[in-house]
Amino acid sequence: MDRIKITGGVPLEGAIPISGAKNAALPLMIASLLTDETLTLQNVPRLADVQRLFDILANHGVDTSFQGKRNGQDSLAGQTVAMTASAIVDTRAPYELVSKMRASFWVIGPLLARMGEAVVSLPGGCAIGTRPVDFFIDGLRALGAEIDIDAGYVIARAKNGLVGNRVRFPRISVGATHTVMMAATLAQGETVIENAACEPEIVDLADCLIAMGAKIEGQGTPTIHIQGVPRLHGARHTVLPDRIEAGTYAFAAAMAGGDVTLEGASALHLERPIELLRAAGAEIDVTNRGIRIRRNGHGIEAVDADTAPYPGFPTDLQAQFMALMTSGKGTSHITETIFENRFMHVQELARLGARISLNGQTATVEGVKHLRGAPVMATDLRASVSLVIAGLAAEGDTEVSRIYHLDRGFEHLEQKLSRCGAQISRITG
Ligand code: EPZ
Repeated sequence: MDRIKITGGVPLEGAIPISGAKNAALPLMIASLLTDETLTLQNVPRLADVQRLFDILANHGVDTSFQGKRNGQDSLAGQTVAMTASAIVDTRAPYELVSKMRASFWVIGPLLARMGEAVVSLPGGCAIGTRPVDFFIDGLRALGAEIDIDAGYVIARAKNGLVGNRVRFPRISVGATHTVMMAATLAQGETVIENAACEPEIVDLADCLIAMGAKIEGQGTPTIHIQGVPRLHGARHTVLPDRIEAGTYAFAAAMAGGDVTLEGASALHLERPIELLRAAGAEIDVTNRGIRIRRNGHGIEAVDADTAPYPGFPTDLQAQFMALMTSGKGTSHITETIFENRFMHVQELARLGARISLNGQTATVEGVKHLRGAPVMATDLRASVSLVIAGLAAEGDTEVSRIYHLDRGFEHLEQKLSRCGAQISRITG
């Protein structure tokens, strides 16, 4: 199995191009199921999760073609993908596929809206928590779907089509908001989603759906209005920059020290992480190229953080922030409020010399002067990149194993970091 080897202690200097967002690309690709015309997506990152979703969508009848790179385009630039679901050949999403990636459950919304039926495997638990699907089921039922659960499958039917309604989520959910919003675009009449997720990825999907002919207002606020239309058409849309990737490299630069520009990153989508970085002692400038982050000579201040839905501090940056705080001057408290089991990086960071104790959903991190490189194991996508960040700052060699987790969500990770002087390489086999 591949591993990543890092020799730490080298400050990062240079520029990192930020890729298209994985968590926007996935729902955008799923939106291709809503129309028989072609949806062309630009800036799609080359990631294992994206590839897996191409396979899952192919099973439903989505034909995908990749358009070539233009001359002079940066070699790390994302791909342009044309996706056409001229006919849905299968409304069933089997366990073997859905269990590999939770977001594939979201096909239930478009399949139900376009075909009047969908049979989708329950995604099952995952490393970061139980992650149920009750909000999806209640939301689609509110739009008139009949839903049964049998033998691990959600069987959804709406023979006469979906009908708009008021859907109020008991708690903010990104996936349930994406799914109900997609389904409602083809329902009869108006749907109002209350307590909707406000993440930039929701806005990106809504903007793409609008380009496809949907009538949506209020995206990016807790109340989204969708006026159903009889059909959607093809469109061209560019995936927004990945705020989690940008935040990750910002924490890496703050921890290892140096001067890094995150090209194309949107500071607007990273307000809370930028606030925390500044409080920790990093200098941040927003330029027309992106975000510049510097930390030269100063220590890292200990800062507290709680995860929260957008615009709060993202759970997808919690592990990376914790890595930074392991070198803070003092004690930091980090509380995870979204997922109940998202602390698996704690014991691996401890192998590098970090001092972290857990009490329920709060981690108390006592900063240490130096981390020491060690062999560590990736446990999930964001946890594994926190080990890379810590390894970049640690003295000596760190080897991260099980890096297939990293390949799910970080495009060209080693290339991007080594361009900035990091000593990082992949060991295959
Ligand atoms: C999305 O997951 C992201 N995934 C996650 O990113 C991210 O951590 C999460 O949102 C929170 O920001 C993608 O966008 C592909 P949720 P999602 O529904 O939609 C509970 C990464 O590393 N809930 O917003 O699955 C749920 O258990 C990933 O890139 C229910 O109880 O998350 C959680 O506690 C991992 N019932 C909370 O809501 C439901 O029916 C928020 O989860 C649905 C959710």
